[in-house]
Formats: sequence, C-alpha cells, structure tokens
Amino acid sequence: MNKRSTIRIKNLLMISLVIFCTSCFRANDTENTEVKSGDFFKESQIKLKVDSLLALMTIDEKIGQLVLYSSTLDVTGPSINEDYLLAVTSGMCGGIFNAFTVEYTTQLQKAAVEQTRLGIPLFIGYDVIHGYKTIFPTPIAGASTWDVEMVEKASRIAATEATAAGINWIFAPIADISRDPRWGRITEGSGEDPYLGSCMVAAKVRGIQGNDLSLENTALACLKHFAGYGAPVAGRDYNTVEISMKVLIEEYLPPYKAAIDAGVATVMTSFSDLFGVPATCNNYLLTELLREQWGFNGFVVSDYESVMHLLNHGVAVNEIEATERSFTAGLDMDMQSGFYERNLKTLINEGKISENTLDISVGKILEMKFSLGLFDDPYKYCNSDRERSEILSSGHLKFAREMAKRSLVLLKNASLSGQDNNILPLKKQKIALIGPLANEKRQLLGSWICEGNEEGMLSIYDAFKEEYGLGNVTFTKGCEIKGTDKSGFSEAIQKAKQADVIVMVLGESFEMAGEAASRSSINLPGEQTELLKELKALAKPIVTVLINGRPLTIAKEVELSDAVIEAWHPGTEGAHAIVDVISGKYNPSGKLPVSFPRNIGQVPIYYNYKTTGRPFNEDDKYTTKYLDVENTPLFPFGYGLSYSTFEYSNLKLARSVIKMDESLKISVNVKNTGRYDGEEIVQLYTRDMVGSTTRPVKELKGFKKVFIKKGEETSVTFSLKPEQLFYLKSDQKWGVEEGEFKVFVGSNSTDFLSESFWIVNQN
Ligand code: NOJ
Repeated sequence: MNKRSTIRIKNLLMISLVIFCTSCFRANDTENTEVKSGDFFKESQIKLKVDSLLALMTIDEKIGQLVLYSSTLDVTGPSINEDYLLAVTSGMCGGIFNAFTVEYTTQLQKAAVEQTRLGIPLFIGYDVIHGYKTIFPTPIAGASTWDVEMVEKASRIAATEATAAGINWIFAPIADISRDPRWGRITEGSGEDPYLGSCMVAAKVRGIQGNDLSLENTALACLKHFAGYGAPVAGRDYNTVEISMKVLIEEYLPPYKAAIDAGVATVMTSFSDLFGVPATCNNYLLTELLREQWGFNGFVVSDYESVMHLLNHGVAVNEIEATERSFTAGLDMDMQSGFYERNLKTLINEGKISENTLDISVGKILEMKFSLGLFDDPYKYCNSDRERSEILSSGHLKFAREMAKRSLVLLKNASLSGQDNNILPLKKQKIALIGPLANEKRQLLGSWICEGNEEGMLSIYDAFKEEYGLGNVTFTKGCEIKGTDKSGFSEAIQKAKQADVIVMVLGESFEMAGEAASRSSINLPGEQTELLKELKALAKPIVTVLINGRPLTIAKEVELSDAVIEAWHPGTEGAHAIVDVISGKYNPSGKLPVSFPRNIGQVPIYYNYKTTGRPFNEDDKYTTKYLDVENTPLFPFGYGLSYSTFEYSNLKLARSVIKMDESLKISVNVKNTGRYDGEEIVQLYTRDMVGSTTRPVKELKGFKKVFIKKGEETSVTFSLKPEQLFYLKSDQKWGVEEGEFKVFVGSNSTDFLSESFWIVNQN
C-alpha cells in the first residue's frame, strides 16, 4: 500500500471516529441534562473517544500501546535505532523515552502520526528528576528546604522546561523512603520520614501535572518506584527488599499514597521484590493495593527491562511466563524488555489473557493521551519558540538560586577563640579555597541532569572571587576526590599559610550517588580527610563545605572544622547559593531530612525508631546499645543551624483530652534571640505512649517554616487530628486506640518542648 492510500484510510477512520464521538456526546448531552461538572463532562468525552478508538484497533495495535522503548543517548543528543523506529512506524510502540529536544521529538511524533494506520501520537518520556536544563538541588537537598511551595514551584519549572523540549511524560517523583545512606539513590528521594516525604512527593505531582493536563506546559508525572525500593538489603542497589507488612504500611507507603491522592497519572514499579514477589509482577502491590484499595486509575509501567528481570529473579521460566505474570498482576506497560511486544498476542490467542483485559490497559493509556490533548495536536509540545525562550530563563535561574540557598544545612558554626562571633558568616578577608570540588561546575549538579550542563555556571571558586574580590581568594585543589595522591598537599599548605581563613570544599563526586552507586563505606573518599588534618595543624579557622549525595560519616571532619555546611549537590546556581550563605547574604535555614550516622555500623539509623523492651540506659549494660559507639546519630533528623538562635517557649495544648472526632490546637512561641533575621522550621512530633503494637519514640506530624526578625517573637500553631496518629494496630486495622500521647515541638527531632494529651473514645 502506498503512503497516500495509507493516509486516506487513516483519515477515513479518524473521520468516522470523530462523527461517532460527536454523535455520542450530543446524545449524551440531551439525555443527561443533569451533567454540571466540567470535569465529569470532559472525562466522559474522553471515555467515549477511547472506546471509539479501541473499536478501530487491531490486537497488534493495542499491544503496541503497551510498549515503551528508549532512545539511544549520544553526546550529540538522543537518536532512535532502526528496530525501535520500525516498532513506532508499525504501530508496535506507543512511547519513546530518553527523548527530548523539539527537533527530535517532532521527528518521533511524525513517524507515529504520519506513518501508522491510526496515527496515534507517542508518549515522550524522560527522567526529569530535579530540573531539565535549569538544575535545582537534588531531591534530598530539596527536601532539606522543608519548603513545600518551593519544591512544587521547582517541579513546575522543570515541567515547563521539559514540555518546551517535546516531553509529555516525566518519570518523577521518587517516593522511596530510605533509612540507608549506603544506597546511592537516597539522593533522589526526600529522606527517611514518611510525613516529610509525603509532603514533598505530593508537591512534585502538583508541580508537574498542574491543574490541567491539557496545557502545553504540564506533563504526566510518574510515581516511582512502587514499592519499597529504598530499602534494599545492606543498601545495595537492586538488592532484595526485606521489610514487614507493618513497616511497609506505616513507614514506606505513605509517600506513594500521597502521590496517588495528589492525582498522579502513572506509576512505575520497583526493580526489587517485596514479600518474595518482584514488584513488577506483584498482584498485591499493583492490583489489590494500588487499584482496589487506593482507587488508582492511571496506568502502571515497569522499570527498565524489569519484566525481563523476572527471569533473573527466578520467578518465570521464559518470556511468555514473565509477560503473563506481569500483565495479570496489573502491569500495563513494558519498558524496554520487548516481552509484551513479542508475547502478549500469543497469550491472548491461547486464551490466557482476555482481549477485554487488554482493552482495559490500552484504554487507560489512550485516556492519558487524550487528556494531554495529543490527539488534538500531536506536536503541541514541539514548540521551538518555547524551547528557545523558556529553557534556562533568567527567572528560572533566579529561582534555582533561591532554592539552593534554602537547601543548604549549617551543621556547625563554632565561635572563634577570644571572640563572641561565630566563624560564619565570613567577612572580607584573605581566603584560601582548597579541595577537589572547589573549582568544579559539573560536580555541583548531581546525578540525573537531563540537558543540564556547565553553561553559564560558576564554580565555587568563581563565586568566591565575585563576592570577596579576586585578590582575596586563592584556590588549590590539594587532592583528587578519590585516590591516594598527596602531591598537591604542599601547595595547599603554602596557600593556606598566606590566608586568614581556610575554606575546604570536600565530598563525593556526582557519580558516587544515584542509581547503581551504592557504597559500603560512606566516609569522605580519597585523601580529603588527610588534607584537612594537615591544614588543621596551621591553627587557622576552617570552614568545610560538603558536596555530596548522601549522609556521610563525617565525625572527624566536623571535629577538625570550625564550621560545616552540608550543600548536597546544589544545582546550576549552587556556587552562588553557597557564597550567599557563607557571606551572610542569606541566613541558612535548611534542616536535615535524614539522620547522619556516627559510623557505618549504626546504619540503618533513623529518628522514628521503636523503644525496646530494654531501652537504652547508660548505667545498665543489659540495655540496647553498642559497646563502641553511642546510639545517637552525629546529626539528627530535622537538625540544622541558623546564624540566629531561636528560643521556644509556652508550648500549649488547647485541651488535655480529645475525642476521636475532635482536633487539638497546639501553639508555641518562637523568639529570634540572635543578631540576624532568619527563618526557622518549627517541627511537631508525637509519641503514642501505649499501643496494641510497639510504637516509634517520635513521629513527625507537622512543620511550619516561619520568618522571624531579630528580637521578635511569633506564635506558631498546629492542629492535630487523631487520624494523623493512625497506625496498623494488632487487629491489623488502621486506627488509633485511646490513651496518652506526647507532643514535642522544637527545632529538630532531639531538641524540643513537650506536653501530653489523651485521646478518649466517644462516650
Ligand atoms: C531506571 C530507573 O530505576 C528509573 O528511575 C528510571 O525512570 C528508568 N531507568 C528510566 O530511565
């Protein structure tokens, strides 16, 4: 058949589709005069269109919609190999990922729309994790802002830039809670806490999807990695996950659920297994929990080749069985393994999968394509004007700097001997900037950076020169991030001798965190600590800035430094942000979303641990403790200093007893007792003193970020409802029993005021 006749058939089919749909809508309209909600009407219109289109599709074309393939990523940009292009043009592939730029995505959409019988447009997916070209702080750093609105706005900007480059499906947010800093992907999540994690994840869904998916600057979000991926045994990426149902439900599921409640359109399965069944073919996760209990009605995609991984997991003997197990468990789309493309039809022919079930999956996928408006205009995201003007705009960069400033966590700020001043902020003086990360740009961006690059970026050295003057700042690398070479030490020492203060920039490279980047030791690699030790001998003040993707074991480095800033991988505007904080232009406000262990043996360590039958007691050997290290972390969850000090007083609970259907008002006064205006993140924790099962010693239930001028005091209030205290009781029901609860309000998980209240059952 020649091209012209193909297009003619396609047009005829489309015209009949449109006529059919329109007549249905009219009929619907007159019969259903009660329809008032625009959303409902829009949804039913889409459903009709989906059904009409399904009626026109062959089984092969339907299967094609469940198949997703990757572009090849070269230095020159993305390209498509011949096999995948053929899959697209033969209607056997409904989406391409790792795809971006208007030029390339236009080419892909053209192939799908103009060369296939039905002309169904493609999903164009990409991992836009913390920015497209304007790179924001990594997710763990974003969580350190504890600023939900800011995180939402960053995702909005990321989606704006990504959609300006042809992308309509963003593989974020990552909702994986992690209590294990060995796991490299801890950098992609929001830390260890289910409540903070939930707030961050919901904000990202809102940011990516906006209020209207049909707009040209919103995209489908993809919640991942469902579920429990952040808990691989021993912190090794892709390893087996062993957690109890109770821990899963109480600690790991809340952020995924928050994304579902925020309306996330798609879900990606985890590479790992759960309760012995790989997530990709886990009926409990994909059908019982996600759809039946949580009411999710978007579609589920596998992770990269994870349908194929069922063979390695040893739960399927061949491709056919892996396909059948995944599809029947509730996995709609196969990323990259090709198993669905090759095997679904056989399973349907053999009657092992019904066409009706196939239609349900395909229907959900088509529904999303209609919701995006791709059938109205397949090229709606391929807009070179937007690509030129919206990506890396000055407004986006300005916001990236604001966010990066707020993601920095001040861990230490000692006072200088003989002075009542703290070392930070640093005034104008002679500064020796030393360390393998001090004059780097790419390193500041972290992992998953899409089109992000060094263009227009400053290194920390550049930003120091800008702020403190060329003549006041010297730079020496001193050593590499890794390796044993100490030959740069002597130059570093020489330069440091001539300075008033030493600023060290140490840490991990971006390749040391992220996917497939687990570490069994989480210390500063290479000779960095040795360099610090030698410089300490000069008896000059030392400020250490850490660039890294995970909590590190830095007890020694903290001791050797007078001030320490955890800067994570702060993004495109990271260097500016670091100097904004060091110079005092911005008073730091970030707080840790994850505990920092004293040594690797303490891992996993988290603030919401359970009390035990033998709680820690220093004077009693037979209580829970180590012989060689304290139980407490080096820096606890929620910790972070300011150049100011905040004093908490007058914690008040409006009542001491509440019923199950009542809420409790909690208030506290916070005074800025320091010399700088500043922001404080006021944190609310609770403890259920007696439950039918063991309960954590503390759980975060709320937080508020407040700006307080120096010398001023403000009152912060929270409202707490019993349902916020629900947990999995011994009867396996989600609820809370009556009894005593403690409330803790303070500046981190170990520094607080406390009061008690009681919940009683209705009388
Ligand atoms: C594997 C990663 O686990 C996942 O997060 C990502 O979205 C896919 N690859 C696609 O790049």
